Amino acid sequence: MKRILITGIGGIGGTNFLRSLRLAEDQCNEKFFIVGTEYNAYYIEFSDADVKFRTPRHIDPEFIPTLLKLVKDYELEFIHPHPSSEAKIVSEKRKLFEDLGVKMLLPKPEDIMPDKFYMYEKLNASNVPVPKTIHIKSMDDIDEAFRRIGSPLWIRSIIGAGGRLSLKVNNVEEAKMWVKLNVMQGRAKINEFIIQEYLPGRDLAFDSLWFNGRLITSYARERIEYPFRHISLSGITGTPSVARIIHDNAVNSIGIAAVKALNPNPHGFYSVDLKEDADGNPKITEVDGKWHTTAPLWGYSYAKVYNKPSYNIAYVYIKLGYGEEITEEIPQTNLFPEEHYLIRQMDSGIILKNKNNRWRIL
Ligand SMILES: Nc1ncnc2c1ncn2[C@@H]1O[C@H](COP(=O)(O)OP(=O)(O)O)[C@@H](O)[C@H]1O
Ligand SMILES: [Mg+2]
Repeated sequence: MKRILITGIGGIGGTNFLRSLRLAEDQCNEKFFIVGTEYNAYYIEFSDADVKFRTPRHIDPEFIPTLLKLVKDYELEFIHPHPSSEAKIVSEKRKLFEDLGVKMLLPKPEDIMPDKFYMYEKLNASNVPVPKTIHIKSMDDIDEAFRRIGSPLWIRSIIGAGGRLSLKVNNVEEAKMWVKLNVMQGRAKINEFIIQEYLPGRDLAFDSLWFNGRLITSYARERIEYPFRHISLSGITGTPSVARIIHDNAVNSIGIAAVKALNPNPHGFYSVDLKEDADGNPKITEVDGKWHTTAPLWGYSYAKVYNKPSYNIAYVYIKLGYGEEITEEIPQTNLFPEEHYLIRQMDSGIILKNKNNRWRIL
């Protein structure tokens, strides 16, 4: 029996992560005792962790002590903090957990939720393709950006995920109004925006699992649709409702290069976002030591449909984190067979589909 603490258990990613471990119990003769924590008083209701606790927010001084107490009370062996904000602070305080004998497979804190301009500079310095980008320090930089890069441009907050404060802007006036409104309403300071080349092409993602600098496995996909996109100004609402697996060597190699530019010795799970320019060249918009929301769900769906536990990427991660040998052959890239669509919508369930088959996952 493996005794594991999972945080963010009520979120979509946390739910998918735990679902994957329950599948491994059916498929792999494993048994998990799961203590799940969650900040949100409502979403905690969804989880089928063995025991559940609410924790304060990650910035609360009681957050880490609460987790440490749970580790002691339930004799937990491994911690998987799922939300990035929680993973970052656990990674910062990792020694407190390690002193209790708790294992983890977490990137360094500086790899988790790096700010977008830091990311851009790291990638650019390593010659990984990135959109031309200017850090806005004053309104004059917006004029400069349109002069130097052209139009339209893409503006965004350097902090936060899910396309936070992103917008396609057609001219200086639109860009200035966007910054001004968001500063005025207290969402960001002026120097917390970047403005960059607008990338109109395919919306791509690369997900990868690493151990001490070694790539264990990875896969790439194209995002086709976002949920509720028509009621969002940017059209970006975080996690896609439709995506498909692609096998694309260029995307794989740029994805790997991006992770290595962030950290030459990656350890843990890393996500990369790419978008293609008008000529179809992929450029990196984000590299982050985090789990994309659907990564465990892809693993769950493929493992279930093909009855193949090595697709269960959350389970592979746990085994690695426990220092166990992975006996199955796992490819370093293109983990999943291509041209499968994952279709999900609130209240409608989840479907995996390719040319010949359609499987209801949930
Ligand atoms: N320069 C850009 N031009 C067009 N779309 C972009 C650009 N940068 C990001 N996006 C879109 O916004 C999404 C979210 O941005 P991303 O870089 O992944 O940061 P985050 O997910 O942290 O908000 C991307 O997946 C992409 O679809
Ligand atoms: Mg992203």
